Amino acid sequence: MKFYYLYQFLISVQKSCFITPKKHLFNLEINSDLLMHLSKFGKNHIINLNHITTMDLMQKIKDNAKKNVRIITLPEGPEERTLKAADQILIEGFAKLVLIGDPKEIMENASKFGLKNIGLATIVDPKNNEYKERYIKLMMEIRKSKGLTYEEALKQIENPYYLGTLMIKAGDAHGMVAGAICSTGDTIRPALQYIKTAPGISVVSGAFVMIVKDKTFGDDGILVFADCAVHPNPNAAELAQIAVCSAQTARSIAQIEPRIAMLSFSTKGSAKHEFVDKVVEATRIAKEMDPSLKIDGEFQADAALIPSIGQKKAPGSEIAGKANVLVFPDLQAGNIGYKLVERLAGAEAVGPVLQGMAAPINDLSRGCSVSDIVNLVAITVNQAAGMDKK
Ligand code: ACO
Repeated sequence: MKFYYLYQFLISVQKSCFITPKKHLFNLEINSDLLMHLSKFGKNHIINLNHITTMDLMQKIKDNAKKNVRIITLPEGPEERTLKAADQILIEGFAKLVLIGDPKEIMENASKFGLKNIGLATIVDPKNNEYKERYIKLMMEIRKSKGLTYEEALKQIENPYYLGTLMIKAGDAHGMVAGAICSTGDTIRPALQYIKTAPGISVVSGAFVMIVKDKTFGDDGILVFADCAVHPNPNAAELAQIAVCSAQTARSIAQIEPRIAMLSFSTKGSAKHEFVDKVVEATRIAKEMDPSLKIDGEFQADAALIPSIGQKKAPGSEIAGKANVLVFPDLQAGNIGYKLVERLAGAEAVGPVLQGMAAPINDLSRGCSVSDIVNLVAITVNQAAGMDKK
């Protein structure tokens, strides 16, 4: 029987799909029954049903971006993956792009990589551009209380990450994606200083949309985890804000209706500790901030995710066992948690999506691929459009 299915699978592959170990290159006209059979034989490392959902979700996000095109700055203009992603985005047409960098270097690299569409982007030289003096004035106004001098502002504005951020602050662009060649801090520090947080929010955090193989978790395997990327040690009020922002990310990016679990090592008073008190207080504040939120805690992860355990440990909770948004008590837990799920459970992690900022700035991993950049630009367009509609 095994060989029958394997034979059928190979025929079906030959007929209808292009298979490569690179997850992003799948053409998904695959017979899913055959894949189910294969995965039962322990062959699910050959093809992963998981990717179908990831691609479906990204396609939805791109389709929505196409209807809401926005201007996104890419401060790492000459960088190979950034340029290749830009070329693809310009063909797909879901964002207008500002490539920041030496124009000669950008065009030479575009030609070296055989890219035909880079001419459709606006290219801005950080050393020599029409915006400089206007932005320096704006920077000095914003950072007056910090004593920013003209010379300091001039130095900052010649830095592509500051320029990409200031374009947004000045209303010349809507969002930024960077981080392929710099740290999280370097990508987001300009935004923390100049864009600042959204109204009612004082803390920026980072969420991941996690797509797990076991579709009984979350909403058809889709969950949101936060904060996994930014704020090391939130207090109760900040943790509450992270929960409220994660609900927004769940709706606008993961496209799920949030059921938020506030995570701890305790479920409903099973342990007593000041760390637990913080999570209980954060849950109370989040409910106060948005009484319509479906949120509960404190929960251990199993009580949040597994219905039978949720019922036993937190009877009567409408979230226990059914959570699709997991809010971690601090960055150590969140960052470790998402990486464990990604590596041990083979989940897809889309993000980090920065949340709580007054405009969308998103940070790439230095190991990112071209399609990671394409996807994050699509996400950023969606965030920008969502903010405009508020
Ligand atoms: N939300 C809102 N504002 C913030 C935040 C925040 N989370 N953090 C800092 N700020 C503000 C500060 O108030 C300050 O504003 P001001 O200059 O107007 O007074 C400004 O940002 C700069 O603050 P610093 O503390 O000097 O910022 P610094 O650059 O040192 O740190 C940073 C900020 C980079 C976010 C830091 O908290 C950090 O390194 N976090 C961890 C990032 C990280 O390494 N994540 C894991 C890797 S990512 C991954 O694995 C997916």
